[in-house]
Amino acid sequence: MPAIVIDGKAIAKKIRDDLAIRAAILRKKGVFPCLAVVLAGEDPASLSYVGAKEKALAEAGMESRDIRLPRSTGEGELLSLIDQLNRDPAVHGVLVQLPLPQHIEEDKVIAAIDPARDVDGFHPFSVGSMVLGRPGFLPCTPHGVVTLLRDLPIPLDGARAVVVGRSNIVGKPLANLLCRRDVNATVTLCHTGTRNLESICREADILIAAAGKPGLITGSMVKKGAVVIDVGVNRVEDPSAKKGYRLRGDVDFDPAVERAAYITPVPGGVGPMTIAMLLQNVLIAAEQRT
Ligand code: GUN
Repeated sequence: MPAIVIDGKAIAKKIRDDLAIRAAILRKKGVFPCLAVVLAGEDPASLSYVGAKEKALAEAGMESRDIRLPRSTGEGELLSLIDQLNRDPAVHGVLVQLPLPQHIEEDKVIAAIDPARDVDGFHPFSVGSMVLGRPGFLPCTPHGVVTLLRDLPIPLDGARAVVVGRSNIVGKPLANLLCRRDVNATVTLCHTGTRNLESICREADILIAAAGKPGLITGSMVKKGAVVIDVGVNRVEDPSAKKGYRLRGDVDFDPAVERAAYITPVPGGVGPMTIAMLLQNVLIAAEQRT
């Protein structure tokens, strides 16, 4: 029997509806949850992500302060803008869309964000708090994946989870969250240096692809009955598509769906959950300051 396709959009919608109620309560108290969204340059994927985030904020009754900067913006200029946003009492969260233009050091910019406004969960303080299991903002995509997994009628406790990809944004924090006691999975983190990737993936009860390589996970890498979570959002050329490209995940969907028990689609799987978790962090930031 083919896998059940996980409807990330529907699960995210439920979360966003709850957040909208909490945002309305805050607004009644005169607090208007607000995220400053900074985009430097015009990377097409970033433009689309930023637009989706701002639209979702508005739909949940939250505000965004949209700050678009030219590609040529200097590092110093960006750092002083962040400093200004950190001090602005009307701004509850600060998000700098990545990747930044090459002449700007990403680490420096992330470290400049006030941890109390770090709704991306990328600041070293937030990362440290996550690893230590202390309160703090969790990064949105890994948190969204864990939230999706928790929604499934399958035991996570003791399950074998394999994460493919070691980015700071997804793979590394996700491996960390999955082995926390409240999830309690046994985690293997694979990357480009992994030997026998196929045989490791085939042992996964939960297989998470976050490598950014279209079709990396083939059908034969999926154990029968596994849960497959595809974090990949790759633009592949497609002359027959209106935009000239289509989105493809890291998982070769058609063969994988025949073997898995549950699988996320691309788009409509993890992506909407990332946005829901971002809205949740903005709301928490606003509630904490009230
Ligand atoms: N670029 C890709 N994903 C993200 C994200 O979750 N946050 C930010 N700020 N930039 C990104």
